[in-house]
Amino acid sequence: PAPEASAGNAGPTAEKKLVVGFSQVGAESAWRTAETKSIRGEAEKRGINLKFADAQGKQANQIMAIRSFIAQGVDAIVLAPVVETGWEPVLLEAKAANIPVILVDRGIKVTDESLYTTLIASDFVEEGRMAADWLAKKMGEKGNVVELQGTTGSAPAIDRKKGFEEALKKYPNIAIVKSQSADFSRAKGKEVMEAFIKSDRNNINAVYAHNDDMALGAIQALDEAGMNPGKDVLVVSIDAVKGAFEAMVAGKLNATVECNPLMGPILYDTIAKIRAGEKVPKYTQNKDQLFDQTTAAQVIGSREY
Ligand code: AHR
Repeated sequence: PAPEASAGNAGPTAEKKLVVGFSQVGAESAWRTAETKSIRGEAEKRGINLKFADAQGKQANQIMAIRSFIAQGVDAIVLAPVVETGWEPVLLEAKAANIPVILVDRGIKVTDESLYTTLIASDFVEEGRMAADWLAKKMGEKGNVVELQGTTGSAPAIDRKKGFEEALKKYPNIAIVKSQSADFSRAKGKEVMEAFIKSDRNNINAVYAHNDDMALGAIQALDEAGMNPGKDVLVVSIDAVKGAFEAMVAGKLNATVECNPLMGPILYDTIAKIRAGEKVPKYTQNKDQLFDQTTAAQVIGSREY
């Protein structure tokens, strides 16, 4: 529905503030914090009443938040889903209440696609492929890679693994020798990398991390083990946050694939279109690019997150 003129003292021309509920995954990474800042900041700029709920990495909290948004009668629900599956019941409730659901940054698996209006996100499979191709060349198309996966069951963990493995099929002399989840966090990235080093330190030529935070944790573990990250052990990751550029300038991270978290402007433009009855695409892809040490120092100053 179009914004209504509010009754009473505000006068006939005053418009009701748009109310949007946003269920965010949590604050596990610098990327996530940048996304939250963009969505909150843009709401403020546009005079939108944003109800923000941090799920602390738990789907159950997201389901509770969505139910509360429905009960409050928000105009739109924005969901950054922690995992891909298990959304049908609550999204059916949102649909019954006639509230559009906009997915940001991560997709979901549902049998009925009408349960959400649109998805705005990067192509995670392509990010994995870009990381693999870049790394394979840098490794001279041979060697052993250890993989730090993102949150189990999340779209970026599933798709970044898939894209990476798919691209590696072209390089039969590269093997993924270890692969484990470190939940997209720096502390767990360090912890899992320490375990990898402990069990097989002479067999690691490269690290592929599904996000920068885990790579930065792994770099710390490699440094502490005297293993020379960025040189003796190559490190590639995804997100392109400021910390990754700093690590590239310091020669410790070799490359990062961008994943744009600055969702605010496109998100509210999309909500405005939906409310105006315009048709929006089911999927809008954020375009990403790879950065490596050759341009890091030039680019770092212009990074927004
Ligand atoms: O869904 C995007 C991913 O989630 C980012 O790559 C990661 O940093 C985050 O936590």
